[in-house]
Amino acid sequence: MLPKLLTKIPGPRSRTLARKLRRYESRNITFISKHWPVFWERATGANVWDADDNRYLDLTAAFGVASVGHGNPQVVAALRQQAGRLIHAMGDVHPNELKLKLARELVALTFRRNARVIFANTGTEAVEAALKTAAIHTGRPGVIAFTGAYHGLAYGALAATERNHFRQPFEKQLGNFVTHHRYGEIPGQPPKNYGAVLVEPIQGRAGIVVPPDNFLPGLRRYCDRHGLVLIFDEIYTGFCRTGRWFASEHWKVTPDLICIGKGMAGGFPLAACVGRAPVMDSWPASDGEAIHTSTFLGNPLGCAAALAAIGEMKRQKLAKRAAQLGAYIQAHLPVRGKGLMLGLPVANPARLCEQLLQRGILALPEGDVLGLTPPLTITRRQLDFAIANIIELCR
Ligand SMILES: Cc1ncc(COP(=O)(O)O)c(C=O)c1O
Repeated sequence: MLPKLLTKIPGPRSRTLARKLRRYESRNITFISKHWPVFWERATGANVWDADDNRYLDLTAAFGVASVGHGNPQVVAALRQQAGRLIHAMGDVHPNELKLKLARELVALTFRRNARVIFANTGTEAVEAALKTAAIHTGRPGVIAFTGAYHGLAYGALAATERNHFRQPFEKQLGNFVTHHRYGEIPGQPPKNYGAVLVEPIQGRAGIVVPPDNFLPGLRRYCDRHGLVLIFDEIYTGFCRTGRWFASEHWKVTPDLICIGKGMAGGFPLAACVGRAPVMDSWPASDGEAIHTSTFLGNPLGCAAALAAIGEMKRQKLAKRAAQLGAYIQAHLPVRGKGLMLGLPVANPARLCEQLLQRGILALPEGDVLGLTPPLTITRRQLDFAIANIIELCR
């Protein structure tokens, strides 16, 4: 079903809620203007309803998370069932069996075998785990990252994130262990104290940037030559988003560590760093107090949701679907990207997003493009509606 055409967005209830939120939430968080935001009330598939009961078509999958569709019935059922049994266990002390099941599944999906998992709650934390793993493995603190990189905003990940907008207020508190090289180009000789390369196989928040074909294979050779750990941040690109299970498959490159999150658990906050055993096993065995863990590590609800979401990706062949629907969009719009991780270069992406919202379409700017990262379950008909509106607004 297509959204009805809407008038007066945000509606009165969204506006009231925004006004109230302003009083209680830190002012830097939710952007509030005359035209923004709408408060989400419920969602299913690629449709979202707001607090005024307006229906929208979601081209964001809510930051690329709702890959298996909002409110995926299998994910909902798994969460319901698990919530009735056990919501929280003792992640690194007395865990729940689902942590084992999901770790086994993640190893099978990424490295197939002989790999280990560190669970995390957010993508940022998965990056932190990868940075620490590389440091433990090589004993060398230096990390090469790239221009435009977005790896998260905690101090470790922020040191690797390149955008000044996020870094500038904290610049003096950031470690100086990361240097940034131009994305798409192989760096020169690394200094002796460098141990890792951290890279997004396709950059997301920099504006959906696909690197030249020789970049990732070249980085693999570079890391092998200099004894560096190659870390792929597949938090955005992973789990079928780009038309493959992982974007690295487009270039047939295997990293040493892979960071995953976002779409992995159907909307539940869960992430992980998965790594080749020879690298991961540089961590010493736990002596009863883990060096790196957290309260909610391997949360049973998250693991149940992820197992269900991954099951849906397999059952619905969502990697293939993303590739097909991506090709369909590419045939109609001059977008860049792969699968359903696409960006349409436009003069003013923020303005276009506001206009689309008025037409019942949720979209976000990613750098200098209009991001097109819908649920991978979006229908052709829904896409046609989105494409027609985008074309009309861009005319
Ligand atoms: C490539 C990439 N890495 C890391 C992150 C951070 O993930 P989170 O916001 O879950 O901490 C993001 C989030 O957008 C991302 O796109």
